[in-house]
Amino acid sequence: MAARYEVTASKYRPKTFDELAGQEFVVSTIKNSLVNSQIAHAYLFSGPRGCGKTSAARILARSLNCEKAPNGPCGLCDNCRAITQGASMDVIEIDGASNNSVNDVRQIKDEVLFPPQAGKYKVYIIDEVHMLSTSAFNALLKTIEEPPPYICFIFATTELHKVPATIKSRCQQFNFRLIPVETIQEILKKICAENNIQAEDDALFWIARESTGSMRDAFTLFDQVVSFSAGANGINIRSDLIREKLGIIGLEKLNELSLSCVENDGQKSFALTDEILASGVAIEQFVIDLTGYYRSLLLVKNGVTRESLLGYRPSQFCAKTLETLDSIRLEQALDILLDCYRNIRYSVSPRFDLETAISKLTWLTKWVSPIELKNSIDAAKSALARGGSFAPSSNTQTVEPRSVPAAAAAVAENTAPKTQPSGDGRSLTDEFQKMLAAKEKTSTNNNADDDDDVPMWNNTSIKSGKENPPQVENVLSVIPGTVIS
Ligand SMILES: Nc1ncnc2c1ncn2[C@@H]1O[C@H](COP(=O)(O)OP(=O)(O)OP(=O)(O)O)[C@@H](O)[C@H]1O
Ligand SMILES: [Mg+2]
Ligand SMILES: [Zn+2]
Repeated sequence: MAARYEVTASKYRPKTFDELAGQEFVVSTIKNSLVNSQIAHAYLFSGPRGCGKTSAARILARSLNCEKAPNGPCGLCDNCRAITQGASMDVIEIDGASNNSVNDVRQIKDEVLFPPQAGKYKVYIIDEVHMLSTSAFNALLKTIEEPPPYICFIFATTELHKVPATIKSRCQQFNFRLIPVETIQEILKKICAENNIQAEDDALFWIARESTGSMRDAFTLFDQVVSFSAGANGINIRSDLIREKLGIIGLEKLNELSLSCVENDGQKSFALTDEILASGVAIEQFVIDLTGYYRSLLLVKNGVTRESLLGYRPSQFCAKTLETLDSIRLEQALDILLDCYRNIRYSVSPRFDLETAISKLTWLTKWVSPIELKNSIDAAKSALARGGSFAPSSNTQTVEPRSVPAAAAAVAENTAPKTQPSGDGRSLTDEFQKMLAAKEKTSTNNNADDDDDVPMWNNTSIKSGKENPPQVENVLSVIPGTVIS
């Protein structure tokens, strides 16, 4: 008969504190208290899913009853073996989600009066403790505060905020952390080596990153990848196979798409979108991957170089996209995509939402943020108030957004000393007032030509000419996106 298949998460459940990865603070504190025999009545383990709470509770239970080692279970003595096999009467595991009533707690209160049978401690592990009802929690209070000396409670929860303060204050609390990507990748590498599995580093890194700090998630995804990576030459985990089987967009395609967007090439962007969707990538996954991509660009733009945060090395991202888009435009790209993700759930056609988002990304380089607009208007206003002539700034489009106030100040400063009258002896204010008067006249006469009907601040249609004297034209030209014809 074939050996029973065991999922990696169960097969590699840590059996000693040293095997518990990424929880160094918890491990060293508990080990110390074991060595010094300072055992609390109750422990509360909290933290994200799949990062070792239940495993640590079991290790602690075994350590308390191990006949040999003082700071960790030996795994060999009768007690250790019985607890591992779930055959010990001294370690009771209770699922808080399905045993959450006062009656369940009452039963525990009756049982604690009987001392342990084989070991030194009778240990109650209550998982998902936040699911206990309020009255069940209240019924527990007295017992966990002053239990018989041989009793130890270990509570585990992913939702610490749902545990009443009265319970928390009676427990020693340990916060479990998300496990770093590098640590998860190392563990997966070791498991591959032990099981004769070939694996590309990039592929293991991808699995580690996707599991967002949860070791259980990493093992589950790993099992799935292993199941489709078996070939004639054994198991070979490859990035391209993962992309193909799980419908994920590769970095090359994302780079290509972002490049066509910064080149304002709508045709190519839509063609690439269609190609990616036709290759079997789900729309939701598409938006998630593209959002992750622009997030990474934003991080790179702000000096982050850590591969585990970016998902790739900074040099792997499209250089032209990085060079063209500044932080404000990258934030806008993220806004567009996050909005798109929220909308597709209620959309008539998620594809339309995705295409709209892609279309918006193709003119991102021309997008102007409200703060940039305000700063430019402020600069224009202050120049007008000084009555000075106004030199247009040639780099308005490429001004780094973070330095806009500085740019505005520089523009104002530039213009400040030049408050001499313009060529024909009139100041800028005079020119502006004259222009307004001319506008008023044409509108009251109601004989304005087509050009005069155009709003003054319209992005694309401000006309120069005798009604817009050159200085005013200059003022308007500092507003990003304003095109003066
Ligand atoms: N810190 C860790 N080191 C090594 N393996 C771990 C770690 N955390 C979790 N695992 C793996 O994930 C599996 C699940 O871990 P465990 O049950 O301890 O998580 P948990 O924190 O109790 O999760 P949940 O909150 O979902 O109950 C384990 O069997 C083990 O394979
Ligand atoms: Mg658990
Ligand atoms: Zn032992």
